[in-house]
Amino acid sequence: MLNGKKIVLGVSGGIAIYKAVDLVSKLRKRGAEVRVVMTEHATKFVSPLLFSEISGNPAAVTMWDNRGEHSVEHIALAKWADLLVVAPATANILAKAACGLADDLLSTVLLATPCPKIVCPAMNSGMYTNPATQANLETLRRRGYTVMEPDAGHLACGVNGPGRLPEVPEIIAFLERFTALREGRLRGLRFLVTAAGTREPIDPVRYVGNRSSGKMGYAVAREALLQGADVTLVTGPSALTPPPYAKVVRVETTQQMLDACLAAYPDVDVVIKAAAVADFKPRDVADQKIKKIDPEDGMTVVMDQNPDILKILGSHKQQQFLVGFAAETQHLLENAAAKVRKKNLDMIVANDVSQAGAGFNTDTNIVKFLYPDGTVESLEKMSKDDVALRLIDRVLERRAAKQ
Ligand code: CTP
Repeated sequence: MLNGKKIVLGVSGGIAIYKAVDLVSKLRKRGAEVRVVMTEHATKFVSPLLFSEISGNPAAVTMWDNRGEHSVEHIALAKWADLLVVAPATANILAKAACGLADDLLSTVLLATPCPKIVCPAMNSGMYTNPATQANLETLRRRGYTVMEPDAGHLACGVNGPGRLPEVPEIIAFLERFTALREGRLRGLRFLVTAAGTREPIDPVRYVGNRSSGKMGYAVAREALLQGADVTLVTGPSALTPPPYAKVVRVETTQQMLDACLAAYPDVDVVIKAAAVADFKPRDVADQKIKKIDPEDGMTVVMDQNPDILKILGSHKQQQFLVGFAAETQHLLENAAAKVRKKNLDMIVANDVSQAGAGFNTDTNIVKFLYPDGTVESLEKMSKDDVALRLIDRVLERRAAKQ
């Protein structure tokens, strides 16, 4: 979402300025064009030369820089920007912005620009919680500014509390989400995504599970969020970190996944059911750890059938566009097509999990998309992120056609 964006990064004089240097670099890696405007105080911490080099554009400090290039520097920057971000934003620059003061380049650009403005306050806790700063932030919010809350923790001034500039990946995620919610093609759409495998307990320490890592479902959730959707991610146990801004519901058993899906289902527009659901569960779960057995005797665990979550969702489908996954080891197309019919799906993503580079615990997948009208689309081997992207393309097209 940040690719091609013209971002003015306002940098004011706080110790967190070192993160702003990295922020410029990361924004450029995402394809944004960055122009840095520094306050005079900021130049006491870091030379404008560093920001000029890292941004690839001259860092501006006063209204009288670059006179030859733009006759009115602050207006040129104000017009140029798609987005203005102030990070770190000190108490002083926030106060100036709230009062409409324009006594340096950054405060003047803030006053002049019509583009969306995001401030990332960073300061000592006492200054941050001071009613004056809080009132200034409130004023700015009322006037349409977006405030990224600071983190709490140990600050450079030696105190513990709120006021720390969030880490650069969090700021990037915030900016991406902000842009996606304004411009993303999935904005306004609510997704329910399930991921990873469910587990059924045998005793307090053992379970029946499967090899699903959650990579496919997490990739779909991440992509949908990046395009502006509201995403509820119902996930079985997974070593992966959920994408930022997902509403995460952690479950273990199939029954818990069913309950979580049913709770979210009435309010969602799209369901992507990428989880590998345990089809069976031990009939009796031992209260205590089962002890070793005589090798002669062996052990029998009687399994009961679990509910089929997707079939239940399909049986009372209304506005939802329902996408299933089919993990097969043989007769891929026939089995997947049968699942589309039986579970009342709008689409299924079929993969032969016995193929190298497909299925569980890999970074790539080789899938086919099948639809109720019998159409089959075969995709070449690609990363799970790319499968997620293609899947979302098709969901949008098919959903629009259905409507
Ligand atoms: N699924 C589900 N609930 C189950 C089993 C599967 O919601 N109890 C969903 C999966 O999340 C997936 C789709 O149904 O989207 C197909 O899952 P798969 O394991 O391929 O097939 P099954 O329906 O379990 O059929 P079988 O194992 O007999 O192939």
